Amino acid sequence: MTFKSWFYDHFVAARYDKTLAEITDDFRQICIDRTTVKAGDTVLDLGCGTGLNQPHLAARLRADAGGKIIGVDASENMLAQARARAQAQGYADRLQLIQGDIRNLRQLVEGPVDVVIATLIFSVVPDWRNVFAASFELLKPGGRYGTMDNYWPNPSLRLWFLSWTFAADAKRPGFEPLQQAAADFQLEYHPPDADVQFYVAYGTKPEQPE
Ligand SMILES: C[S@@+](CC[C@H](N)C(=O)[O-])C[C@H]1O[C@@H](n2cnc3c(N)ncnc32)[C@H](O)[C@@H]1O
Repeated sequence: MTFKSWFYDHFVAARYDKTLAEITDDFRQICIDRTTVKAGDTVLDLGCGTGLNQPHLAARLRADAGGKIIGVDASENMLAQARARAQAQGYADRLQLIQGDIRNLRQLVEGPVDVVIATLIFSVVPDWRNVFAASFELLKPGGRYGTMDNYWPNPSLRLWFLSWTFAADAKRPGFEPLQQAAADFQLEYHPPDADVQFYVAYGTKPEQPE
């Protein structure tokens, strides 16, 4: 149990999807599309929460090709919703959920994985640069990494309110470690000219360490 998972268990889980599902769905799809998920991939959904990425991932993965999602989160009540969603939408056979603190990722997930998806997590988890490093380490050489989050050095009132509601810090440049580590880093902001923007960043782990 971490402070953030306690906060998410008690104050966020019950209203998370209602508040965030609709406004983030397009950017999740863009992130997953740009990151390129193939039928037989093992995908780590880092800090997966209620599993809002997982229907999009499951649609691209096939159990008979060995494709699967490993979702890790510390909050029991967030994970319960991810589990219920997978059962309701028929992809529980492609989903493994692990409850734990992603600051200890190396002890929770064996790896290697083909893809890491990290959405709305680096603005929330403490020690986020080390969490990124551990997740990038789990990626196979040539594996793909996609991340999506809010980042605004000068937050609008609406973003400030959203951040406060979800115990997030939108001033963290969550894409920066990927920019330094990936071979072909790309960064986009969506939607253009909105008062709350989401970045989508993606790149590939170099085949040989640089
Ligand atoms: C804003 S939610 C993002 C959930 C999901 N990735 C999404 O895109 O909807 C942040 C999540 O981080 C989880 N979290 C925060 N600190 C954590 C930690 N140290 N270890 C594991 N999960 C953590 C919370 O439980 C919550 O589910």
